[in-house]
Amino acid sequence: MDTPFSTQIRVASQEQHAEAETSPFMARMLGGSLGVEAFARYTEQLWFVYRALEDGAGRLAGDPVAGPFVRPELMRTAALERDLAHLRGVRWREGLTALPSTAAYAARIEECARAWPAGYIAHHYTRYLGDLSGGQIIRDRAERTWGFARKGDGVRFYVFEEVANPAAFKRTYRELLDAVRADELVRQRIVEECRRAFAFNGAVFRELDQEFPLSA
Ligand code: HEM
Repeated sequence: MDTPFSTQIRVASQEQHAEAETSPFMARMLGGSLGVEAFARYTEQLWFVYRALEDGAGRLAGDPVAGPFVRPELMRTAALERDLAHLRGVRWREGLTALPSTAAYAARIEECARAWPAGYIAHHYTRYLGDLSGGQIIRDRAERTWGFARKGDGVRFYVFEEVANPAAFKRTYRELLDAVRADELVRQRIVEECRRAFAFNGAVFRELDQEFPLSA
């Protein structure tokens, strides 16, 4: 097994990644045919996901396996809350609901954060490395489609102010993955959890797609 772990996990999720990129909801979002209401609803779902990822992060920072991945410059909850205040108004918390798929996704992240730090890494990787990559394409499209200020309110979630060089950051992140303190069996279980994380994201997209069948 000479393949670096970062390569294993990327290759194992490549197919699902392609599915996510071309899922109807994403395709419509990138194609500019969704209304801002759908984007707001999606941002709300992200809030539940990142709260699950980040609420437990403080405790995990000292964990020998997941700890090295917990980096303050990645934290997204505050940015999401600013975006939601912009999208929904100051009372954005009222009426905020998780779709069933989002609730299941967040519950699984919380479970990993609490009981299986190695599994938490799979969720961490799936979201943050994605946000640093394709997230930038989504931001650009959202700015053009709905007229948000460049890197401003509405799309702050996609702006990693404290990551000066995303390409370098991703390289370092892959090194962390390669050095993860887990044996081959646990690494395989992390890869499985990553597939599960992608599946959760796919389920959220499907529910969103159903909620916004036409442009809304
Ligand atoms: C339309 C939507 C998407 C686009 C356009 C997109 C695009 C990209 C691109 C261009 C990269 C490569 C970046 C690089 O090599 O540095 C990437 C990587 C990645 N994306 Fe996406 N993506 C999308 C959706 C998603 C979703 C929904 C997820 C999961 C929730 C995701 C997770 C990832 C991950 C984990 C990586 C890192 C792969 C690695 O190098 O290990 N992406 N994405």
